[in-house]
Amino acid sequence: MKLILKILIGLGVVAVAASEITSATFFSGPLNRATSCTLTGNSIDELDAIKSSCNDITIENLAVPAGKTLDLTGLSDVSITFKGNISFGYAEWKGPLVLISGTNINITGERGHVFDGQGARWWDNLGSNGGVRKPRFFKIRYLHNAVVNHINFLNSPRHCFAIHNCTNITVNNVVMNTKDGDTRGGHNTDAINVKGSENVFISDTVVQNQDDCIAVRSGKNIHFSRASCSGGHGISIGSVGNRTNNLVENVYFTHCTVANSENGIRIKTVVNATGLVSGVTYDNITLSKIRDYGIVVRGDYRNMPGPTGTPSNGIPIRNVRITNVHGTVQPRGTNIYILLGEGVAQNWHWSNVSITGGRRNRTCQQLPPNTDVFCA
Ligand SMILES: *[C@@H]1O[C@H](CO)[C@@H](O)[C@H](O)[C@H]1NC(C)=O
Ligand SMILES: *[C@@H]1O[C@H](CO)[C@@H](O)[C@H](O)[C@H]1NC(C)=O
Ligand SMILES: *[C@@H]1O[C@H](CO)[C@@H](O)[C@H](O)[C@H]1NC(C)=O
Ligand SMILES: *[C@@H]1O[C@H](CO)[C@@H](O)[C@H](O)[C@H]1NC(C)=O
Ligand SMILES: *[C@@H]1O[C@H](CO)[C@@H](O)[C@H](O)[C@H]1NC(C)=O
Ligand SMILES: *[C@@H]1O[C@H](CO)[C@@H](O)[C@H](O)[C@H]1NC(C)=O
Ligand SMILES: *[C@@H]1O[C@H](CO)[C@@H](O)[C@H](O)[C@H]1NC(C)=O
Ligand SMILES: *[C@@H]1O[C@H](CO)[C@@H](O)[C@H](O)[C@H]1NC(C)=O
Ligand SMILES: *[C@@H]1O[C@H](CO)[C@@H](O)[C@H](O)[C@H]1NC(C)=O
Repeated sequence: MKLILKILIGLGVVAVAASEITSATFFSGPLNRATSCTLTGNSIDELDAIKSSCNDITIENLAVPAGKTLDLTGLSDVSITFKGNISFGYAEWKGPLVLISGTNINITGERGHVFDGQGARWWDNLGSNGGVRKPRFFKIRYLHNAVVNHINFLNSPRHCFAIHNCTNITVNNVVMNTKDGDTRGGHNTDAINVKGSENVFISDTVVQNQDDCIAVRSGKNIHFSRASCSGGHGISIGSVGNRTNNLVENVYFTHCTVANSENGIRIKTVVNATGLVSGVTYDNITLSKIRDYGIVVRGDYRNMPGPTGTPSNGIPIRNVRITNVHGTVQPRGTNIYILLGEGVAQNWHWSNVSITGGRRNRTCQQLPPNTDVFCA
């Protein structure tokens, strides 16, 4: 395919270069206007040139080569639009397939676009715990003052959308459809995970996957609202502990539904680790057909070979507000389970909480004193 690099200056179009493998279209206006460029097909080699000269970047039907990151780092005052099918070659590596960093960035997906991870090429039921090495999908890191709107992800190889070391981020209308993983071996396909970030506002997310719908591991002032979560492990804080940053402050989960998932609401801290969880609100959460736990807060977490059953007390869990939470757990599950070390739970307030259906009663340990928290 012969592709042409065009520059459009004012109203004139000038073809300036031709190449066997690249294609980019530059629309350049007066200095104070946006310079628009398109990256498409197999033209990833044009990306550096586009990043240094364009502030309105469209990425359309791009085929990212195996083992390579679509590197949108180091940008400022740029708007990025995704169109068509963004696809990725197969390689066994850690990824991420897409990485974005910078300041003042608008990221938008056009109707009908998709990031197709084609995760089934890697899935082996082992996720990030073994088997072939699977790439992380989409990561924003050191991104500040950015809006991410209308992005569609299909079949993530493993963790889908990471928000690490970011500030002032709004994420609206993101769809993460990894439903195929239910029957084809998807595992650890966490939808969103947040670390070391501040002022993050995520709303109207639709998730079908096989792990956490969101996992907040560290960060401050994180809001997650109007999500629909299905098939995964629920809306989670943690695991907290045993990382470089073990501080979670002021997290708000509101107006969400969690269906057909292992857990509804979960807070988990790593056994024998230190850190702090302070200020967690779950308000207006509807659960349905939860398999293991409707609400679970435990301080005995260990990834492999699983929780120890003996919680420790190095990570206080303070100021937990759970209100207007109702729904159903499957008969083999437990409605509410709390397993914490002495003195860990401080200042909890629960109201209008009603979880029913689970018949596997488990003894709660160290419920917070003098509060309305119950276990049944
Ligand atoms: C991002 O979008 C906002 C709101 O539409 C606009 O004010 C701002 O100029 C845009 N920023 C960039 C870098 O395009
Ligand atoms: C996206 O493109 C890849 C590579 O051509 C293709 O295999 C895949 O089926 C496409 N996905 C969609 C959803 O069209
Ligand atoms: C985040 O937003 C606040 C309030 O608008 C602003 O003061 C702060 O500088 C922003 N942070 C960064 C890293 O830009
Ligand atoms: C990025 O986040 C990690 C983990 O939260 C933290 O250890 C690191 O200090 C952060 N880096 C910066 C520059 O904030
Ligand atoms: C509760 O959340 C649902 C979405 O799950 C929303 O439709 C409803 O309006 C919310 N109710 C209130 C009182 O905010
Ligand atoms: C946690 O610490 C206790 C007391 O030191 C120890 O007995 C236990 O084995 C530790 N647990 C893990 C998983 O390391
Ligand atoms: C702490 O992290 C290390 C390194 O990732 C891991 O090997 C260890 O199992 C973790 N400890 C617990 C209790 O999860
Ligand atoms: C209890 O919570 C449900 C939503 O989970 C809400 O519809 C209902 O109005 C709440 N009741 C009270 C008394 O706040
Ligand atoms: C579990 O507890 C509930 C409420 O106390 C009780 O009705 C039910 O019989 C118990 N289930 C089992 C299996 O013990």
